[in-house]
Amino acid sequence: MNNKEIINLLHKSGELSKELWIKLLESYTDVDRTYAAKLARKVADDVYGKNVYIRGLIEFSNYCKNDCYYCGIRANNKCVDRYRLTQDEILECCNNGYKLGFRTFVLQGGEDLTYSDEWYETVIKSIKEKYSDCAVTLSIGERSRESYEKWFKAGADRFLLRHETITNEHYRSLHPENLKLDNRIRCLKDLKDIGYQVGCGIMVGSPYQNMEHIANDMIFMKEFQPNMVGVGPFIPHKDTPFKDMPAGSYELTLFLLSLIRLMLPKVLLPATTALGTIKDGGREEGILSGANVVMPNLSPKLVRDKYMLYNNKLNTGTESAAHLDMLREKMKMIGYNVVVSRGDYKFEQK
Ligand code: 5AD
Repeated sequence: MNNKEIINLLHKSGELSKELWIKLLESYTDVDRTYAAKLARKVADDVYGKNVYIRGLIEFSNYCKNDCYYCGIRANNKCVDRYRLTQDEILECCNNGYKLGFRTFVLQGGEDLTYSDEWYETVIKSIKEKYSDCAVTLSIGERSRESYEKWFKAGADRFLLRHETITNEHYRSLHPENLKLDNRIRCLKDLKDIGYQVGCGIMVGSPYQNMEHIANDMIFMKEFQPNMVGVGPFIPHKDTPFKDMPAGSYELTLFLLSLIRLMLPKVLLPATTALGTIKDGGREEGILSGANVVMPNLSPKLVRDKYMLYNNKLNTGTESAAHLDMLREKMKMIGYNVVVSRGDYKFEQK
């Protein structure tokens, strides 16, 4: 089978064998990538139309107990200027965002153990009370099922937790001993079982990653059926053990976005900040490859350069109407509309 036929098979059946995944990923050309992007865009248009959903990202704490080798805010990085936003500051970000047209707020932070379950419950409840037409997404890492249940009851709608890699030996080369792939997958399953819309995902070109690992990730994602998938290129950070490792491939990231769209037609798929960071216009090309979400930053200007997961992270922010207008304009130019909407996953109609 040639690559075009493999892509057609994925489009038609929504899955591939491990052998075909590896063959496709190891031998794709620009022609294959462009072909997949065209099909993927058509699939996304059929499900979500010409809409691009925006999520307001609020990076509320850069304290983290973990020491992931790739991440700029790892516990052992002593160069980080650490901060925590107060509840009032978080609500102020939402207030700003709401006026700009955001209807989803993503609370993202390091695994900061000083926050109790109750702290999160109070924040979630106050956002949902004030902005009842908005969705709240949490991106705060591994916790107990009980905590996840409490936050869901408090009103949280979605949860992002990239699995990073489903291959255990690869997981071990990215994380210190105390972090376990099993627990991460347990978290993802609990979250789904509780009723969250759940996102998993990987970094493209993370150190030691090979095409077999990515094939395993695609097969895992097909089986897990996430509602969202976060996929962006790995970008080295100067104060981490991976500082000298090469960044992930821009083209492979775009190709994977297309393949994920073909495999999971209804998935909510962001063109990530990391993609826009390694290439000017990356987010637009991400949308044209099958993505349908962008996640502008709503964090206060003063802390924004402190949440550095990787170097040169795009830092434009969207605190002003002007910035969002610019994004709207960029999307318009490629034929897409930034919409004022929660942008939920389209579950099966009963
Ligand atoms: N490059 C790209 N992405 C990164 N992340 C963490 N560090 C980096 C990096 N150096 C991603 C991880 C994490 C998400 C919040 O950010 O995949 O799950």
